[in-house]
Order: sequence, then C-alpha cells, then structure tokens
Amino acid sequence: MTRTESLRRRDQAAIWHPFTQMAEWEADTPLVIERGEGNYLFDTDGNRYFDGVSSLWVNVFGHRRREIDEAIRSQLGRIAHSTFLGLTHPPAIELAEKLLAVAPAGLSRVFFSDNGSTAMEIAIKMAFQYWRQREGGDGRTEFLTLSEAYHGDTIGSVSAGGIDLFHKIFRPLLFSTHRIPTPHCYRCPYGLSRPSCALACAARMEEEVRSRRGTLAAAIVEPLVQGAAGMLMMPEGYLARLQAVTRECGVLLVCDEVATGFGRTGTMFACEQEGVSPDIMAVAKGLTGGYLPLAATLATEEVYAAFLGRYEEFKTFFHGHSYTANPLGCAAALATLSIFEREDVLGRVADLARRMGVELAFLADAPHVGDIRRKGLMAGIEIVASRETKESFPPEKKFGRRVARKAREKGIILRPLGDVVVLMPPLSSTEEEIVHLVRSAAWAIDEVLAGRG
Ligand SMILES: Cc1ncc(COP(=O)(O)O)c(C=O)c1O
Repeated sequence: MTRTESLRRRDQAAIWHPFTQMAEWEADTPLVIERGEGNYLFDTDGNRYFDGVSSLWVNVFGHRRREIDEAIRSQLGRIAHSTFLGLTHPPAIELAEKLLAVAPAGLSRVFFSDNGSTAMEIAIKMAFQYWRQREGGDGRTEFLTLSEAYHGDTIGSVSAGGIDLFHKIFRPLLFSTHRIPTPHCYRCPYGLSRPSCALACAARMEEEVRSRRGTLAAAIVEPLVQGAAGMLMMPEGYLARLQAVTRECGVLLVCDEVATGFGRTGTMFACEQEGVSPDIMAVAKGLTGGYLPLAATLATEEVYAAFLGRYEEFKTFFHGHSYTANPLGCAAALATLSIFEREDVLGRVADLARRMGVELAFLADAPHVGDIRRKGLMAGIEIVASRETKESFPPEKKFGRRVARKAREKGIILRPLGDVVVLMPPLSSTEEEIVHLVRSAAWAIDEVLAGRG
C-alpha cells in the first residue's frame, strides 16, 4: 500500500469531514494535500493543483507567503497564546488599530474571535444587548434577514441564515427572524425582469423595515454577494437603500463581510462600493491571509458606549473564547494588512477581475450555462438543465461536483455550491492563471455534459 493510500484509509477510518456525506467520502479516493506554494496545492503524490477557491475563500496572497510565514515564526519566538480575558498583547492592539484604519468610517471598536460564524454570533448578540441597554430600546428584539442568507453554522448564525438545505432541520432550535426575499434577479422572487426585480425587492425591503420600526434590532446582510447561496449578486443600489432605511428607522445595520472582505470583491470591504458604513461588521476568512483562524466583529462607538457602566449594572458583554485574539493569528493578520498597505493589491485585483470577466463572457451562450455572476474575483457559473425554464438538474446528477472533479485533470481545485461552479482564486493569481482557471472550468463543464465525467 502506498503512503497516500494508507493516509486515505486512516482518514476514512477516523475522521468526520465538514459539509460532507461521509458514506460517499468513505467510498471515494480523496486528495491528501501535503503542502502549498504560492497559488498551488500539492498532494502526497506530488501532483500540483491551482487553488481555484482560495482554500474555501480564505487564502489571499497564496500559500507560504514569506512575510506572513516570518511574522508567525517571529511571534512564535515570543508567545503562541495567552488569554485575552483580563490581559492584552501587542499584536492584538496593533491589529485593532490597523483594522479600524481600513474599515468603513464610523467603526471604532474591535471584538476578536476565531471564525466567521462566531463573529456573526457576536454581532447578533451585540445588536440584541445594545437595544436592551439603550433607553427605550426594550422592544427592539427582532432581526431582518435575507431568504438565502448564510452567516455560519452556530445556532445564532443559522437562525439568521436562510439556506433550507443547511438550516431547515434545525428550525425547531432557532429563533425566528423576518426573512425577506433575496434580491436575486436571475430567479426573481416575484417572477419579474431584472430591472423590475431589483426595484421590487428594494421596495419590499424598505417597506418591511419601515413597518417594523420600533421592533427591529438590526438588519443583517452579506453585502453585495451572497456567497454560500451560490454567488448571488445584490442589484446595484440595494445595499445603499438598506442603509438609508435602517438609519431612517433607527435600526442597526450588520454587514457580514466574512466572505467579501479583504479585497475579494475589488474593494477592501464590499460595503464601500455603495458608500455604506455599517453599525456592526464581521470579518474572518481572509483576515489572516488564510493562515489561521481569527475573526473580528467591529462596532461603532455608539454601540460600544451602550455597554459601559459600573460593573454592578451588568452591562458587560459577557462573551469570549479561549482563543480570542490569538497572537499568532494577529501576527498573520498584521502581515496580511501590511501587504495591502505596501502593494497595489486592489489595482491588481481590478485588472484580474476585468480579465476574468472577459474570459467568463465566452461562456455566456454555452449550452446549459444559465447565469454567470461575478463581483471582483468572486464568480459563479450556474449550470441548468434548461436555459429557457431555468430548471435545475436533479440533485442526484451531482453536476457541480462532477465538474469540480473533472477540473482536477487540468490541475485545478474547485468546490461547487450545488450546480454553481464557484471560481474564487487568490488575489495573488496571475492573468494566465485566471485564464487557465476559467477555461478549465468551461472545459470541465463541457466534458461532464458530454458524459465524460
Ligand atoms: C458570509 C459568511 N458568513 C459567515 C461564514 C462562516 O464563517 P466560518 O466558516 O469561518 O465560520 C461564511 C463562510 O463561508 C460566510 O460566507
């Protein structure tokens, strides 16, 4: 038995993988990734793969980026971890300052945690407690969310989510939210054309916020791109209108920038593109360049101030984790932000995104390509059984997964969302790599449609 086979068997005997049907996994021959270099992953047999989804949307500047490696090593020479409850440390202090310097205006406080779900859990609890401690805010206990939302897998984040496949089974455990239709104009919730869809969705959202004035604590959104729902793009202006109506009605706006943050959509944070400054913002994934689990929930001074008082008033935010503000993670995040400072990352992303758009446009008329969606370097190609009716393939066809598997033959790692082929390359990709990524995905789609995968 080869080393790879032995590792596979040991994995299949001992491990339970996330978002994975383990009966299938056990019968499969999974790749065992041993190392990374730049934008590539290498398996235990030495095969090289382009990291086409940035290791599930976390990697920013490639693997083994010298500055990030060195920052972690240097921090390791001082300390790997000490608690953040009652103590503090230099990398967290410096990181908080740097994060606030690049964050949308108005955000002035950083609450650290260790993953995107938790950062959102914290955002929800913060918004809720904020109103409990604000004069006259007692009635504001409810949340407005979007129907296809994904904010993570902890119970609060799942409550704010709306993807039935992941969330429905847990409904009895969840608190309810006011879910409004996602403004996804390829499949308009009202059956309207694109422009009418955008207007109808925005009008419904405004109506909902206005009619719940006084009971809503916060509106929660993934700004511009609902990633996990299949790279759904918000129509232009929707987010700005949401900010305007939440401000008008005194409702907090929570932006979940876990997937969209750190340059992925072409700006440092997606909400900047609509001139939006949320009251609370969650970041994770790309924060450490994709190296270590670290997250943060940023809040305005107004939110923060509602938690101040004498201890015995019990206005404290009673929330925290063993690994809050892990110093190694903070060091990796500082190195990541330094690269953004030193290099024209966003300029490069603009060029790459333009090239990706040109390449994707070639697929627009391909058979079974229903919709192509992209913002910056976040893209999705939706494959449908019928372009006319937009009907999906039956799930047992596993179309998206077969495409991802086929793409490995071209040296590309993909992870689809249902039948949406997701492309989310690292920001450090070259134009040639972007072209190869898109063309390989197109080739894999054709191969699977032709019954060869
Ligand atoms: C928008 C959004 N929020 C939250 C999360 C959850 O983050 P994590 O997987 O780090 O818990 C994700 C993960 O994909 C996400 O896309």
